[in-house]
Amino acid sequence: MLIKTINFLTLFLVILVLIMSDDVKNYLSEVRRDFSGKPLNEESVDENPIEQFNVWFEEAVNAQLLDPYAMSVTTVSANGQPSTRIVYMRGIVDESFVFYTNYSSDKGKDLEQNNKVALNFFWGELERQVRIEGLVEKMSAEGSDAYFAKRPRESQIGAWASDQSSELLTRKELEDKVVYFTEKFKDVVIPRPSHWGGYVVKPVKIEFWQGRPSRLHDRIVYTNLGDDWKQSRLSP
Ligand SMILES: Cc1cc2nc3c(=O)[nH]c(=O)nc-3n(C[C@H](O)[C@H](O)[C@H](O)COP(=O)(O)O)c2cc1C
Repeated sequence: MLIKTINFLTLFLVILVLIMSDDVKNYLSEVRRDFSGKPLNEESVDENPIEQFNVWFEEAVNAQLLDPYAMSVTTVSANGQPSTRIVYMRGIVDESFVFYTNYSSDKGKDLEQNNKVALNFFWGELERQVRIEGLVEKMSAEGSDAYFAKRPRESQIGAWASDQSSELLTRKELEDKVVYFTEKFKDVVIPRPSHWGGYVVKPVKIEFWQGRPSRLHDRIVYTNLGDDWKQSRLSP
């Protein structure tokens, strides 16, 4: 009797999972959401895309979005394989977007071979996307030192302990390294590891996308012409 009940329960659960996975498939193929965003006009945008970015970024911060400074960074490996991950944008300096990472990570290796990157900010609640293409350079050692010095101690230890993107056999391996570096740097100012620092992305193209009703979205793109920017509107 008990075995029969268990078998019945298993069957019931399998059917439930199948129904649910069909629901998800239907959801994905049928979900539609219209956009209601206010227009993005040639007349209202700033002539300079960095200024325009600052306006939108401030609006994203004021809208209290979760991590408005999170952006995707796409790099391309030596054999042409693109790879995307989220990192935090930590500032805009001299019209360049700044992020910090491990120079020996997969992205660091990609960037050594190919300094072309693509960044993307998605602010869903505001129905906005900003796409950036640009060229990356390492930040100066002094700049990276200054930022590293401001990080919480745990994050500084993490930068030493994590050989970012390398394979770990167990989580304990990482935790043991944290214990090791915590002890090593006990009572001293933690120096920046040379494998960790900033990158600055100089944009060559920046596109502002605003969701609009009936898929007739607004897209304004700025292309760098040296000292100036050319502004155009793209089809949605
Ligand atoms: C919200 C969020 C923020 C992140 N911020 C950073 C960051 O600022 N720097 C960084 O190196 N990795 C950051 N990561 C982790 C990266 O997405 C990625 O896992 C890591 O950099 C290794 O990437 P790689 O192996 O392609 O080099 C963040 C991940 C998330 C989800």
